[in-house]
Amino acid sequence: MSSPIITPSTSRRDFIRTAAGASVLAGIQLPYVHAAGSDQMKAVLIGCGGRGTGAADNALKTKTKYPIKLVAMADVQENRLKSSFETLTAKHPDVMSVSEDNKFIGFDAYQKAMDQLSPGDVAICATPLAFRWVHFKYAIEKGINIFMEKPVCADGPTAKRLLALNEEAKKKNLKVAIGLMCRHCRRRQELFDRIQNGELGDILMGRAYRMSGPIGTCFTLPRDKEKDKSELIWQIQHFHSFLWASGGAFSDFLIHNIDEMCWMKNDWPVEAQAISGRTNRGDFIDQNMDSYSVEYTFKDGTKAYMEGRNVAGCRMDHSTTVHGTKGMAVVSAAGHMPSLAMITKNHVPVRIAKPRARKIKDPKTGKMIDGPIEQPVLPPSVKWAAQQPEPNPYDLEWEDLIDAIRNNKPYNELERGVMASVATSMGRMASHTGQIITFDQMLNCTHEFAPGADKFTMDGPAPLIADASGKYPIPQPGIIKETEYEVQAAKS
Ligand SMILES: NC(=O)c1ccc[n+]([C@@H]2O[C@H](COP(=O)([O-])OP(=O)(O)OC[C@H]3O[C@@H](n4cnc5c(N)ncnc54)[C@H](O)[C@@H]3O)[C@@H](O)[C@H]2O)c1
Repeated sequence: MSSPIITPSTSRRDFIRTAAGASVLAGIQLPYVHAAGSDQMKAVLIGCGGRGTGAADNALKTKTKYPIKLVAMADVQENRLKSSFETLTAKHPDVMSVSEDNKFIGFDAYQKAMDQLSPGDVAICATPLAFRWVHFKYAIEKGINIFMEKPVCADGPTAKRLLALNEEAKKKNLKVAIGLMCRHCRRRQELFDRIQNGELGDILMGRAYRMSGPIGTCFTLPRDKEKDKSELIWQIQHFHSFLWASGGAFSDFLIHNIDEMCWMKNDWPVEAQAISGRTNRGDFIDQNMDSYSVEYTFKDGTKAYMEGRNVAGCRMDHSTTVHGTKGMAVVSAAGHMPSLAMITKNHVPVRIAKPRARKIKDPKTGKMIDGPIEQPVLPPSVKWAAQQPEPNPYDLEWEDLIDAIRNNKPYNELERGVMASVATSMGRMASHTGQIITFDQMLNCTHEFAPGADKFTMDGPAPLIADASGKYPIPQPGIIKETEYEVQAAKS
């Protein structure tokens, strides 16, 4: 199986982008695949953690238009599956149809869950990224549509593997969704259209920030071997700390903002240079830096800057902005939703408060209740601002996917998900090595972080092994330059 040749420069020539940003093969008629013969589409959840439970909730909410039921769940941790099941059952008692026999635990649980589906049904894959290609491969074999969380890969070999697998998915006309939900935000889509229509002039620069205190599992203390017997499961529990599992804090947290800048530029960067560092490693044993600053370059020479930080007590920011010859566009003002997207005539930032509902008196009860959402008051420098309230993009990505499955609309976001993941990885690798990394270097880098992820077992070893002092290899910019950390000899 060979992967298609895909680079920042060829991608746009070869693929058409829909308004939602999905890319589809131009002009090819493919067989009709959907949950034929059944009004109620079946879904399974693989990876029943925070996001998996959220994604299943979003999926099950679409039931009013297109009924969908959850029939199986899979995880490597029983407690996570149990609490996810309880949460989803409380929210959606009518469409939760997961019997005790259909709750599967283990690294092969995904197969058992997908075996409960028929061609045209959908699998929700929300494990850490190391297992995306494994789950994608089986879904394709079974003719199952798939929703995969972001990022989809952290290294070159898995990026190419996903692209090659996707050729099979396209032949089967499977619908493939990637959890970069902001691409489905209607207000950001309107912003993209306005930018394509020239309202911002030529884009010269992007700026994005994802700066917070320590979040998720980005910093990790040594494993307590008595309590956490399996090193593999413990690393999965702390997946933000290990590059093999997540691409680290960089890939897992920054990809949305990097993708937003590339989306608005309507291109992917050709190279990245970066600086990174860690103020206080202390006893933490994870592989992350705490501060990242990346300069991406597009083929026309323009730039996009990504600043990431996980340090307590510092300024916090979670935003994406692009600057053009005619002004500035906010893509995300403060987090994923609402976008508070806007276009201004100059480059002076405009701060708009998150929209609130006006309090009104309920005529029946006399109590104060939420009334309509107030539109923000805008200064004259604002040319356009997103209408409020904004629909939830996590819901919209599911409305779009289920609609595509039911109505056989072209829907394959895989290439775009890989491009975003590789662009993110090249910024990370530039940070971790202290070198300029091109898109092609990242895609062709042969270091696979978690080889054999399809063969992991519950009592098997982890792909990264601690040294005698309990420490794992960490990036050493300027010292280790070909890979992001010292690669350990494979265990036989
Ligand atoms: N789109 C978004 O805004 C968004 C937000 C949060 C998380 N995410 C993504 O979702 C993914 C999961 O993040 P999370 O915060 O839910 O993590 P989590 O730790 O809460 O959940 C992950 C679950 O996957 C399970 N798991 C791990 N490996 C497995 C395997 N091989 N087979 C079956 N189950 C397995 C874990 O046991 C855990 O229950 C990550 O890729 C993350 O980047 C996306």
